[in-house]
Amino acid sequence: MTEQTEITRNIHEMDKHFIHPWEDITSIGEEQRTVVVQGDGIYITDSDGNRLIDGPGGMWCVNVGHGREEIIEAVTNQMRSLSYFSPWSETSSTAATLAGRLATLSPGDLNNVFFTTGGSTAVDSALRFVFFYNNCLGRPEKKHIISRVGAYHGSTYLSASCAGKMSEKANMDMLEDRVHFLSNPKPGARPAGMTVEEFCTEKVAELENKLQQIGPDRVAAFIAEPVMGSGGVIIPPDGYFKKCLEVCRKYDVLFIADEVVTSFGRLGYYFASEDVFDVQPDLLTTAKGLTSGYLPMGALLISDRLIGEIKATSNEAKSFSNGFTY
Ligand SMILES: Cc1ncc(COP(=O)(O)O)c(C=O)c1O
Repeated sequence: MTEQTEITRNIHEMDKHFIHPWEDITSIGEEQRTVVVQGDGIYITDSDGNRLIDGPGGMWCVNVGHGREEIIEAVTNQMRSLSYFSPWSETSSTAATLAGRLATLSPGDLNNVFFTTGGSTAVDSALRFVFFYNNCLGRPEKKHIISRVGAYHGSTYLSASCAGKMSEKANMDMLEDRVHFLSNPKPGARPAGMTVEEFCTEKVAELENKLQQIGPDRVAAFIAEPVMGSGGVIIPPDGYFKKCLEVCRKYDVLFIADEVVTSFGRLGYYFASEDVFDVQPDLLTTAKGLTSGYLPMGALLISDRLIGEIKATSNEAKSFSNGFTY
């Protein structure tokens, strides 16, 4: 490592004003962070001239690497021709084309795309849609959500409430009465003598038991990351997701695949749900690799089935009152 430069010292002075994510407020401004000034492919360079490998790809989002000319050119051209439009009353060829493209690439009948500002807002929108859906279908009591210990789903009130990283919940208010947690499906943590198959059966039974305990008429959705990401990169046992989906179908509970991390090449495919785990979710959230981190953006994909069921309830106007300026 080279010696700290004057530039680095100056940036550290300014950085004292920057509240970073998950900041310990008692020591705010004290940490001397690496100052990243440049990116190129898998590498970043710091303000002291050190070249480092960006192992996680930013916040697990720079899936195609830093400094890709074709992205820079596309973004620049877009900003020249149209820097912003309101998605409320107008559309744009770019957004419509992307919606169409995502509908084509996504599994099953996930043909309805709602754009968001990132992953948290995609998950938040998914949960709000699930509540909205059950209200439209005349079952306002079907609102409980099942998540898992170790899960991460975002930093809005609703998405954070579904996060299962319990130690991070201290002093942070959460929606508690409607969110339930299953144990972590980490095969490596199974008891001695238990096979992975037995472990899988146990985890799926836990979902079914939890559902019965809360009451299927009260459970709206099961939310899960195909590979639990920030909770430790937990690859579930073979067949786990497929069996969880079967349980969800049996009790008319929606399956939300949170693919904020696992989509756009992270597992070798555009989306992991179907290609890797053989499941067709009812709702799917994505972000991160969608723009490779070049712009903050996410999306919620909703199945034709759910949209169709809402349409079929009656001819009354049903506004999904959820949307973002960006
Ligand atoms: C699985 C998952 N869902 C949601 C989010 C939240 O996304 P964002 O940070 O873009 O709001 C993350 C972020 O790491 C994530 O890993």
